Amino acid sequence: MNPTKITADTIRAMKGRGEKIAALTAYDYPLAKMLDEAGVPFLLVGDSLGMVVLGYPDTTLVTMADMEHHVRAVARAKPQALVTADLPFGSYDTVADAVANARRLIAAGAEAVKAEGGRAILPQVQAIVAAGIPYCGHLGMLPQHVREEGGYHIKGRTETEREALLADARALEAAGAFTMVLEIITPPVAKEITASLTIPTIGIGSGPDCDGQILVTFDLIGFFPWFTPRFVKPRTNCAAAIQAAVGEWKASLVARVVK
Ligand code: KIV
Repeated sequence: MNPTKITADTIRAMKGRGEKIAALTAYDYPLAKMLDEAGVPFLLVGDSLGMVVLGYPDTTLVTMADMEHHVRAVARAKPQALVTADLPFGSYDTVADAVANARRLIAAGAEAVKAEGGRAILPQVQAIVAAGIPYCGHLGMLPQHVREEGGYHIKGRTETEREALLADARALEAAGAFTMVLEIITPPVAKEITASLTIPTIGIGSGPDCDGQILVTFDLIGFFPWFTPRFVKPRTNCAAAIQAAVGEWKASLVARVVK
């Protein structure tokens, strides 16, 4: 095994050393290779691929077959980074399904799995961990619940939500999660959750005080120009660069036409 290979334990230990965790989504071989070469230690084959790669309106249409296909592509890059894969909507409704589908993602090349929810899916989390599969939690705004919640809403605004999030986070830690994503939670509550856990939190749209940050890579690099979440500041504009390059190439062809 590669001696510098990053594992779930490596990610967990980063919190103890006060090292911030940079995490990004990867859906295919070249992106996984580029992010790995840039030193990103945590790659997520997120079900956001349903929206930014497959063109679905939300993540609820993503299937296990979609996830396996993209996990295989990322795994072929043999990254040093830890590869975590999302269990898609409907794939962990029962304990048996959760374990069987987590095993399928591991067989495809993932090294850890993530699902959305806290105490509501605790038996599934415990069973995945008992099966020896590293588990990443996901609390706050849960994209797989977009249809029942009627949109993407910030979480942690009320005392009831704050208490529920803290209880969910503690339950996931006790169940053996090695880290958890906190998505669009009010920054003070994300900070409080982070301070109350020994495992690291990885925030997205939840303020600066999580132990790490995760973004959908396409948002960071301007590769999905039709929508950018308000909390993301793109660092480059890949879409504009591609369109400019294609435009120049096309113009050069047109200019060469002999009349
Ligand atoms: O699917 C995904 O990309 C995610 C991140 C936004 C955390 O779950």
